[in-house]
Amino acid sequence: MDQNSIIKSYKRVSSFYDMTFGQVFRPGQKTLIKKMDCADTDSVLEIGIGTGSSFQYYPKNTNVVGIDISPDMLDLAKKKIRKDKAINKHILLMNGEQLSFADNTFDKVVGMYVVSVTQNPKKLIEEMKRVCKNDGDIYIVNHFSSESDNTFVKLFEKGLMPISKLLGWKPYFPFSEFNDYANLDVLEMTKVNIFDYWDIIHATNNK
Ligand SMILES: C[S@@+](CC[C@H](N)C(=O)[O-])C[C@H]1O[C@@H](n2cnc3c(N)ncnc32)[C@H](O)[C@@H]1O
Repeated sequence: MDQNSIIKSYKRVSSFYDMTFGQVFRPGQKTLIKKMDCADTDSVLEIGIGTGSSFQYYPKNTNVVGIDISPDMLDLAKKKIRKDKAINKHILLMNGEQLSFADNTFDKVVGMYVVSVTQNPKKLIEEMKRVCKNDGDIYIVNHFSSESDNTFVKLFEKGLMPISKLLGWKPYFPFSEFNDYANLDVLEMTKVNIFDYWDIIHATNNK
C-alpha cells in the first residue's frame, strides 16, 4: 500500500480506532512495554505510534518519541499527551521509512502493528536498525502468518491479499519472508493478544 493510501485509510478509522482495533491491540502494547523494562535514562523511539495509546504503559520519566505518517492519528496522540501532562512523551509527523534522526540515536526502537502496514517493511527495518544504538534493542509486535500449521487461516489470509489496500494491511505476512530481508538477531519471540494471533519480537541490534 502506498503512503497516500495509508494516510487516507487512517483518516477514515482514526475517530473509532481506540474503541475498536485499539482495544484488541492494547494487551500486546502493555506486554511488550513491560518486557522493555525501560529505565528513566533510556531514549525510546516508537514508529507508527498512532493515537498514542501506548504512552500510558511507559514509565513516566522515560523519554519516548512517537512518530507516524498519519496526521489524524497523531492529533489524537497529541490530545492524550496534553491531557496526561506527559512532558517526556513527544510526537512527530514522520515516515518510518525515512527517519530524520542521526545514526545510533536511540537505546530502544519499537514498532507495534506497523510492519505489515507500511509500504516497504524492508526500508522500515533498515531505518529502525540505523537509528538504534549498536547492541540496542529492537521490538516489534505484529501478526506473522504461519506457513505450516493452520491451513484454513493461511488460505483465508492469502484469499484476502487482493483487498489488502482496502484493509490497510497485508493479511498474509510470513515471518520467514520478513526475516529474509529484516535479518533480525532475534532473542525472543512470544505470542500475544486474542487467540495468540500476534507475535512479540525482541531483537538485539547487531548491525
Ligand atoms: C495498525 S496502526 C497501529 C498504531 C499503534 N502502534 C497501536 O498500537 O495502536 C498502524 C500505524 O502505523 C502508521 N504507519 C504506517 N506506515 C507508516 C510509516 N511508514 N511511518 C510511520 N507510521 C506509519 C499508520 O499511520 C498507523 O497509525
